Amino acid sequence: MSKTIIISNRLPLQISLENNNLEVTPSVGGLATGLKSFHKDGDSIWIGWSGLTEEEIPENLLEDVKEKARKEDCVAVNLSEEEIEGFYYGFSNRTIWPLFHYFMEYTEADKDHWETYKSVNKKYADEVLKHYEDGDHIWVHDYQLLLVPNMIREQQPEAIIGFFNHIPFPSYEVFRTLPWRDEVLKGVLGADLIGFHTYDYERHFLSSVSRILRHQVNFNEITLPERIVKVDSFPMGIDYTKFEDAAQNHFKNTEEQRTELQRRLDHHSNDTPEAKLILSIDRLDYTKGIANRIRAFEYFLDNHPEFIEKVRLVMLAVPSRSNVPQYQRLKREIDELVGRINGKFSTVSWTPIWYFYRSMPFENLIDLYTSCDIALLTPIRDGMNLVAKEFVATRINQTGVLILSEMAGAAHEMNEALIINPNNFEQISQTLIQAIEMPVEEQQQRNKTLQKRLKRYSVEKWANDFMKALHNTSQDRDAFK
Ligand code: UDP
Ligand code: G6P
Repeated sequence: MSKTIIISNRLPLQISLENNNLEVTPSVGGLATGLKSFHKDGDSIWIGWSGLTEEEIPENLLEDVKEKARKEDCVAVNLSEEEIEGFYYGFSNRTIWPLFHYFMEYTEADKDHWETYKSVNKKYADEVLKHYEDGDHIWVHDYQLLLVPNMIREQQPEAIIGFFNHIPFPSYEVFRTLPWRDEVLKGVLGADLIGFHTYDYERHFLSSVSRILRHQVNFNEITLPERIVKVDSFPMGIDYTKFEDAAQNHFKNTEEQRTELQRRLDHHSNDTPEAKLILSIDRLDYTKGIANRIRAFEYFLDNHPEFIEKVRLVMLAVPSRSNVPQYQRLKREIDELVGRINGKFSTVSWTPIWYFYRSMPFENLIDLYTSCDIALLTPIRDGMNLVAKEFVATRINQTGVLILSEMAGAAHEMNEALIINPNNFEQISQTLIQAIEMPVEEQQQRNKTLQKRLKRYSVEKWANDFMKALHNTSQDRDAFK
C-alpha cells in the first residue's frame, strides 16, 4: 500500500538530553502543531531532525533516539553541529527567513552557509529515497528544504512530489536580490504541486519563476520542457475540535484540577474585576512585531491614562533560534521595554505587562486563550499565524475580540477580526479602545462567523485538499505525455 512521506526540518517531537536520559517534548511552531493531526490520522511517515546534534547523542543512546522517533512513525535525521550552524542558523535563518519576510537588512549572503544548506538538503533527500516506494506521495515542507524536491526528482523522475511553503514568498523585487535565486527556484520546481498560504505568495512565486527562469506561466501552471508544475494557495487551518474540546473541558475543571497559571489568571480578575486581559503569544521573532506591540501599548497608556489599572497585557514569547544575533538583540530589547514600561506605569496593586519567556504546555495555552478578553497579534510579516485561529476556536461562549495585523496570512480569512497595520500606533490604540468597549452581542456575532469558517477549513481539510490536488497532478502528467 502506498504511503505519504512528510519531510520537514524539524520533527513534531523534539528529543533532548536531561541527565543522560532522553526527554521528548512537542515541537513549537505552526508547521509542527498543524501537520501533527494529519500525520496522526493517516498512513504516513515523517522525516526530520530530532533536535539533538550528532555530537550531543551519546553512542549508547543512538538506537534509543531512533526508537523514540519510530514509535511516532518518525525517522530522525542526524545533523552535526557544523551542519546545524551552516544550514539551520546560517542559510535558513540568516538568509531565507529574513529575506522572505522582507527584512532585507538582516539578510546575509554567505557562500559557506549556502554550501552547507545544499549538502544538508541532499542528506534529507537521500533519507527520503531510502524510504521511498513506487506509488508513495512525497510532501516536502518549508523554507529549510527548498532544494529537496528537485534532488528527489533527479533520482526518482516518476515520483509524485508536493512542496508547501509555510512562510511568505516575497515579491520578485525582493527575491531577485538572492545570489542563488536560480538554484532555489529550480530546487522547488522539482515538485509537481507547490502550495502557499495565500494567493499573494503564489503570485509572487509565479512572477519570479517567469522573470528569472523565463518559464512559460499560464494562470497557475508552469510549463517545463518535461512536465507541468501546478501552483496553488491552500490556507492552513487548525485542528478545530482539539481546541474547542480542550476549552470545553477547561471550563469543567474542578478547583483541584485548575493549573497554577489558571489560579493566577483568576486571581487577577478577582483583584481587578473590570480589568481586561490582552493576550499575545508568539515565538520570540523579529517578524512577530513584539517590540512594536509593547511600544504601541505604551502609546495607548500614555494617551489614555483612564485605562491604567483597567487593562493588562499578558505576553508569552517562546524562545526561538537563540544562536542568531538578531534574536539575541530582540530578546534584550524586549526585556528592557517590559522593564521600562512596568516601571513607568505600575501601581501598588497593578503591573501593566505580565511577560513569560518560555514555551508552555498545551493546557496552559488553553488557560491563556480562554482567560483573556482580547488577543493582540501584530506581526510585521507572518506566513499565516495559527495563534489567531486557535484563540478564536477556544472562545466557547463566543465572547472575546481578536485584533490582528493585516500582514499576517490569517488576516485574509479573518475579516471579522479587527484588522490593524502593526506600524500605526494610533490605530492600534483606537482599536484597543474599540475592543475593550465592544458590546458582547457584537463580539459574539463576529466570533460566530469566524468559528464557522475555521471549523469548516480545518487543518484536516487543508491537508486533504493538498493531497487530492497532488494526486491529480499524476493524472495530468499522464495526459501531458
Ligand atoms: N505554541 C506552542 N507552545 C507555546 C506557544 C505556542 O506549541 O508555548 C504553538 C501555538 O499553539 C501555535 C504555534 O506554536 O500552534 C505557533 O504557530 P504560528 O503559526 O502562530 O507561528 P509560527 O511560530 O509558526 O511562526
Ligand atoms: C515557523 C516555520 C517552521 C518552523 C517554526 C519554528 O513556523 O515556518 O518551519 O519549524 O517556525 O521554528 P524553528 O526554527 O524552531 O523550527
